[in-house]
Amino acid sequence: GPAEVSGEHNAIHPSGGAVDAAQRRRVKGHGARVVWLTGLSGAGKSTIARHAEQLLFSQGVDVSVLDGDTLRMGLCSDLGFSEADRHENVRRAAEVARILAETGQVVVVALISPLAADRALARRIIGDSFDEVFVDTSLSVCEGRDSKGLYAAAREGKIANFTGVSAPYEAPEKPELRIAADAGSAETHARELTEFVLGKIGRG
Ligand code: PPS
Repeated sequence: GPAEVSGEHNAIHPSGGAVDAAQRRRVKGHGARVVWLTGLSGAGKSTIARHAEQLLFSQGVDVSVLDGDTLRMGLCSDLGFSEADRHENVRRAAEVARILAETGQVVVVALISPLAADRALARRIIGDSFDEVFVDTSLSVCEGRDSKGLYAAAREGKIANFTGVSAPYEAPEKPELRIAADAGSAETHARELTEFVLGKIGRG
């Protein structure tokens, strides 16, 4: 019975892809990549990711976006903001990004992913095609914008474990790209990200 299958023997037999990375690269005309945007809540990760998606798509790049807020409505709807849940959130996003990258896509991930150890896990899951991108917007600017009113609520103690207020954010020490986002428009930052990606995927 099924218990036997999963117990006595290893029932999981991973099968390698029938189409290899080089074939995918040839058909798509570019390499696969995962660009992992990390930064505080309200730093502009999602907006930059969406603008970059449009810019890359208009250049013929097969691109998708994995956004924290969106993932949390579906795949990660069982997760909150404890350290353990954020770890699991990052792990799932990394596994999905890896699957998409294996199809040859460029994947833009936008997650706070506040802990360096969790981002290191994402890098291990994804491998050589991973780039860490620090959307560097200061806490004072994010809090000043407070586009969702979450910082105010966090300061009033209405939201626990809020990143930057009552939960840590560990800024990347050596990101492959740092976007200085205290000033400038999301469009400008997205162009910077797009140029970076095009270079990485052999379209530069
Ligand atoms: S994480 O840390 O990577 O698991 O977070 P992520 O999946 O990116 O989700 C961040 C968005 O969730 C909202 N939110 C919170 N953020 C941080 N801390 C707490 N406690 C929290 N509660 C809700 C918030 O809108 C984040 O959206 P962004 O787009 O980052 O502003």
